[in-house]
Amino acid sequence: VFLFLDMRNSPVGIFDSGVGGLSVLYALRELLPNEDIIYVADQAYAPYGKRSKTEIQSRASAMSTWLVEQGCKLIVVACNTATTNAITQLRETFSVPFVGIEPAIKPAALGSTTGVVGVLATEGTLSSELFQTTAQDYAKDIEVITQVGHGLVDLIEAGKATSVEAKVQLQQALAPMLEKPIDHLVLGCTHYPFLQKTLQDILPKNVRIVDCGKAVAKQTHRLLDQHQLLQNGNGHTTYFSTLAPNLSLWQLFDIANVTQIAI
Ligand code: DGL
Repeated sequence: VFLFLDMRNSPVGIFDSGVGGLSVLYALRELLPNEDIIYVADQAYAPYGKRSKTEIQSRASAMSTWLVEQGCKLIVVACNTATTNAITQLRETFSVPFVGIEPAIKPAALGSTTGVVGVLATEGTLSSELFQTTAQDYAKDIEVITQVGHGLVDLIEAGKATSVEAKVQLQQALAPMLEKPIDHLVLGCTHYPFLQKTLQDILPKNVRIVDCGKAVAKQTHRLLDQHQLLQNGNGHTTYFSTLAPNLSLWQLFDIANVTQIAI
């Protein structure tokens, strides 16, 4: 018996450790306005960046299990740390298609004229095998300077993306790469686009900020289309967190309703 389950009207699931994935959600909303989306923030376990590979894999798997239980037809891993440490295992475990996000070294390398690019990301991302392999693929053509964005995710999760503290932390993180002639800065963490203004204050004018939220949205569109899963609805997004939601934080993103879930 061939059972055809029409999943076109099922939601797209998206997760991150916190509010960082909202930078990816914005791109998804823009390109796919007719999709229902379930956003889940694993704030009870944030930040992921300092956790071990095993912990990251176990959380990524728990988040995906929950999203599949909600009937999601595709899952966007809106977190570089979770993608670089767990996406292979997620694809082996679940039958839904996954779209991940990882530091966009390739466009930076191709666009670089100085031959030096910077990557700002979490410890978990930079230490991952997937990142190391990608970075090495480009190492013969360009110099890739990596730096951990210590404390930045915590500040953004505390609603302090535009604070003086965030500026000081960013200045410290970027100092070593600014001693070199970088002409691209790859944002290797989905929280960092929320530091855009401060980044522009700190970076020399010729440095391009590379963020691949839009590329993730395009890939999501491509996969939905390929699997004949595109929805033609009203595009409703619902928000969940594994922590009692800090509403003043979510309000910074114009989100009024967040439901706490135990995962
Ligand atoms: N926003 C995530 C990323 O892209 C995770 C940050 C964290 O929880 O440390 O890496």
